[in-house]
Amino acid sequence: MAVIRSVIRGVGAHLPRRIMTNADLAKIVDTTDEWIVERSGIRARHIADEDELTSTLGIGAGRQALVRAGIDPVDIDLVICATATPDRTFPSTAVRIQAGLGITKGAAFDVQAVCSGFVYAMTIADNFIKTGQSLRALVIGAETFSRILDWNDRSTCVLFGDGAGAVVLEAQPQHNGRDDRGILSTLLRSDGRFEDLLYVDGGAGSTKTVGHLRMNGREVFRHAVQKISGVIEETLVATGYAADEIDLFIPHQANVRILDGIAKKLGVAPEKIVKTLERHGNTSAASIPLALNHAFEEHLVKEGSLVLMEAMGGGFTWGAVLARW
Ligand code: ACO
Repeated sequence: MAVIRSVIRGVGAHLPRRIMTNADLAKIVDTTDEWIVERSGIRARHIADEDELTSTLGIGAGRQALVRAGIDPVDIDLVICATATPDRTFPSTAVRIQAGLGITKGAAFDVQAVCSGFVYAMTIADNFIKTGQSLRALVIGAETFSRILDWNDRSTCVLFGDGAGAVVLEAQPQHNGRDDRGILSTLLRSDGRFEDLLYVDGGAGSTKTVGHLRMNGREVFRHAVQKISGVIEETLVATGYAADEIDLFIPHQANVRILDGIAKKLGVAPEKIVKTLERHGNTSAASIPLALNHAFEEHLVKEGSLVLMEAMGGGFTWGAVLARW
């Protein structure tokens, strides 16, 4: 019996103009290129200028994804923007992107799950599509984390960067077989007991300020390997795939040591892991679509490729999406 699946039709990205290298950072805080590369794998990140808002980046990424999909903006009926750094407290960044792209149909809203935001947004869009509420969705991960960093805190400010990535999903009938294209499985988790390990110390409803990112890096690291491996294992069991059948792993890009730790734990071949954090740093919700865009542009992904995306972020929130390109 045929089923409706959310097929990825296009992918796009947009990065701020300005690049900040580790050497640039070493002029601001007490750090070195060696420390940052050895502990995180990051060499550079893009930093948004004042005129580059989260929506500016999201519009750029969304426009490129639509062009590559060959889909007119007026045919999009759902816009979801995953972000923890919205332009304004309200309205949502998604409606600003919707207007910026000339989309007038359907609904637009933001999703806040920090670094897991893109996995959350893909899951929500997939459910809108599978239930017939949406035919074509634009799913965006866009962040300007540079605005919430404490530039005096060397333990956090060296790790993050700004950017946006987007995908266009379309409802397409598939025959419910192993070669089906589109999203095959989604899995979301959260556990609010870990809030104190990774959070922002401000907000409209508490301090009336935006606040700064605070993180217990060592503890986050420990949980990340454990929780992400768990959700990947659950996805493989639920779908009946073995780890070596996955063509491409598109992980949230937080730290190269986390990616290598997960790969080792699950027995994933290193060449199947897409790594972009060297050039982007941790771009939170934007990191998976930025890595997907890289995979597309480098021809690492082709029609039929089995792609596993996973992330963990503040909350904690975490999850995985398995899709066939
Ligand atoms: N440059 C130089 N030295 C530094 C820097 C820096 N930028 N930052 C910290 N140090 C020093 C510390 O002060 C400490 O010095 P001390 O031993 O004299 O006290 C030393 O380096 C070691 O610090 P640790 O924090 O123990 O270093 P660790 O090996 O744990 O690495 C890191 C830190 C990179 C943050 C690591 O813990 C990590 O990657 N954690 C995961 C973070 C993460 O992935 N977060 C995001 C996930 S969720 C999301 O994406 C929002």
